[in-house]
Amino acid sequence: MLYDDFYVKSLIRTVEDWPKPGISFRDITPIFSDPKGMRMVVDAYVHRYIDSDISHIACIDARGFLIASVLAYELRKPLILVRKKGKLPGKTISQAYALEYGEAELEIQEGSVHEGAQVLLFDDLIATGGTLFAAMSLLKQQGANIKEVAAIIDLPDLGGSQKLQSSDTPVFALCAYE
Ligand code: PRP
Ligand code: ADE
Repeated sequence: MLYDDFYVKSLIRTVEDWPKPGISFRDITPIFSDPKGMRMVVDAYVHRYIDSDISHIACIDARGFLIASVLAYELRKPLILVRKKGKLPGKTISQAYALEYGEAELEIQEGSVHEGAQVLLFDDLIATGGTLFAAMSLLKQQGANIKEVAAIIDLPDLGGSQKLQSSDTPVFALCAYE
């Protein structure tokens, strides 16, 4: 299905002052209750990555999981879960970080990716980039190369996508809110 920016944006709801005063929260929940919208979003990534040489897809807890798992299924790629602290059993490595409205810690399981893996890192939204930089650090510690970061939404005014590009990480976002 052809990507229609106007249609996808019509499914993204802005909630002011949530979860904190001053934050304009971009809520992607309506995309998932609209089968056409969800298909349009998934198809945009399938189209972009179907002929790429990515070996793995990594995705970030929790909203990043929603599209990335469907994409991994479609592209027949292994999926790596980057989770919030305390959710993954066994040996993990962790990385603390700050995001637009707080602080948290991410983890991956030791051995979840091998040296030289060519990883597409997926999350729903790029704001300050704090979350994605923490996830990249964990994946790189295991020897992975980040081929590209993909998201549904970029908030360029918060600087994350610019910082990623300045550190030589390609970024692909379907839409942006200035
Ligand atoms: C949100 C969003 C991104 C992150 C972006 O995650 O899903 O992961 O913020 O912000 P940043 O670019 O400033 O780091 P949140 O921690 O709210 O998690 P959720 O997906 O569990 O709602
Ligand atoms: N994660 C970080 N900033 C966000 C925002 N403004 N809307 C939705 N998710 C976010």
